Amino acid sequence: MIYLDHNATTAIDGRVLEAMLPFLTTFYGNPSSLYRHGRISRSAIDTAREQLASLIGVQPRQIIFTSGGTEANNLALATLAPKAGLAVSAIEHPSVLEPALHLQSLGHRLTLLAVDVNGQITQEAIDKVISLKPSLVSIMLANNETGAVQNIAIYTEQLKAQGINIHTDAVQALGKIPVDFNRLGAHFMSLSSHKIYGPKGCGALIFEKSMAITPVMLGGDQEQGFRAGTENVAAIVGFGKAAELAKTELAERHTHLLKLRTLLEHGLNAIPGLTVFAEQAERLPNTVQIGIHGIDGEMLLMQLDQKGIAVSSGSACASGVREPSPVLVAMGIDAAQAKSAIRISFGKANTEAEVIELIKQLNSLTR
Ligand SMILES: Cc1ncc(COP(=O)(O)O)c(C=O)c1O
Repeated sequence: MIYLDHNATTAIDGRVLEAMLPFLTTFYGNPSSLYRHGRISRSAIDTAREQLASLIGVQPRQIIFTSGGTEANNLALATLAPKAGLAVSAIEHPSVLEPALHLQSLGHRLTLLAVDVNGQITQEAIDKVISLKPSLVSIMLANNETGAVQNIAIYTEQLKAQGINIHTDAVQALGKIPVDFNRLGAHFMSLSSHKIYGPKGCGALIFEKSMAITPVMLGGDQEQGFRAGTENVAAIVGFGKAAELAKTELAERHTHLLKLRTLLEHGLNAIPGLTVFAEQAERLPNTVQIGIHGIDGEMLLMQLDQKGIAVSSGSACASGVREPSPVLVAMGIDAAQAKSAIRISFGKANTEAEVIELIKQLNSLTR
């Protein structure tokens, strides 16, 4: 199989698995236990925390390990449960949008920040939010569908000056572009392990030192009391190792991914009626979302699957009816074009030969 859906998930790196295995077999002690077996697990978690901290430029105690990006996003929104309302961008992942809608159903004012045709937050949207002065603004660093990267540092500067708290979902950005928490200037940041060649079911919420956290999970003093529950030691060890590798290999991976993306985009030029979504935005080096006039994205996905190529489509299924991607709709893309979308997301193990095969198949399937 030619796997081109790394924004959905990645394969565990062999070096990550190797680091994890002893904590699934030999060292199974509970990190809260005081005897040696427990202390070995505790120390492995401490190491993982340092590895992740080093990748994103924070102190280890600013990290709360969670069960993934979804939990980190939910925890951030619950923590900041906004007295003065909240604002989230219209292109957020459902794990931000749905908690936001839930807060709205509880009576909090919710504002959606508009994006332009390239999937970028507009200055007008920021100005509007500033005039509303909500307690919390959540803007993702990189979009999972288009790969569009937001200029978070510029927004945080403006929003912070007004005393507004900012959360950023950096799940898709981590390991693909530099992610420096302090440079971004957010109060909270969500991360996930399985997008960076670590195991699934593990993530983290990063918080600015001065921020108070309202835990969602109660019943234990793990993670400084901010997230109760016996730690998933092996997964945390894997996340830490994946973070360490992401740090040492970031530049190399970036160059490789960008080379593949450029090769694909050149190869796509010959396909009539093709659009690269968010083309003018700064995008993740691994992500290309395209629409082809008159082509059904899901059908194309199935045809590529038959040729042994895995990509993702942009549409979501709601109550048995296929809806166009809310991200593309928010960008002002019409429903028909949005339904033609497929997303290709490269990973570090993809090769130029695989991209050439994809181009060949796309050319023949869309004629
Ligand atoms: C932007 C974004 N945020 C959050 C998540 C959720 O992360 P997890 O799968 O670790 O819960 C994803 C996963 O696709 C994502 O792409």
